[in-house]
Amino acid sequence: MGMTVHILGIDVGGTGIKAAMVDTTSGELLSERVRIETPRPATPEAIGRTLKELLAEQQWSGPIGIGFPAAIQHGIACTAANIDKSFIGLAVAEVFSEQTGCPVFVANDADVAGLAEMRFGAGHGEKGVVLIVTIGTGLGTALFTGGHLLPNSELGHVYLDNGCEAERYASEAVRITKKLKWKEWGERLNLYLTTMENLLWPDLIVLGGGVSKKLNKFAPLITTRAPVVAASFLNQAGIVGAALFAEEELKRQI
Ligand code: BGC
Repeated sequence: MGMTVHILGIDVGGTGIKAAMVDTTSGELLSERVRIETPRPATPEAIGRTLKELLAEQQWSGPIGIGFPAAIQHGIACTAANIDKSFIGLAVAEVFSEQTGCPVFVANDADVAGLAEMRFGAGHGEKGVVLIVTIGTGLGTALFTGGHLLPNSELGHVYLDNGCEAERYASEAVRITKKLKWKEWGERLNLYLTTMENLLWPDLIVLGGGVSKKLNKFAPLITTRAPVVAASFLNQAGIVGAALFAEEELKRQI
């Protein structure tokens, strides 16, 4: 028998922390999305306080799924490119669970955005290799084959043949701070995507993050062989996927 499961999905980004209630049977948002600026420095304590604020606003005390901008290996944060370095080595879900008093499940933000797109969005039914790139403060990546996730790919940190680290060259943050025109930024993104394509040979490339809404502005600059499409959930893929991840983990515990 089908059952509607409601879980609070939270997307912790380098710039904003966004939350909404998600119906995990359809991927639909059941509440307005709430956004709070990511505190600086983005320490575990400060982010924990922000999460508590979001919970109060959403009046929520049940399970929470969090997409987090770090490699999360067996529950432990292993990287911290755009958050405070004190996260490294922490069991992030345990820390946030203690702070909020709710059951918390944490996975990499791009990986969970990918889960949402594969289950209900642009990657649905694609059996081949799918590369999902989330474009925000950093560049996040998720890789699927046969619908299965290879977790924690950190391909935003690849060095391009111009000597630049990809996320310091082609992220949304770079586009904004360097005031790049769509053409200039689109060419940068194209260098990144063609580099990735020559290494991974994806069948489909899905772009998430805020710029996914503006794909028409830079699509003509993209020369990959594989089709490049916007995430169906656009910038909400991380919220939806975080809730889907929590649901999967809850099922595993039963
Ligand atoms: C982090 C990744 C994350 C990406 C997008 C990168 O800096 O290393 O773990 O997925 O940013 O937030």
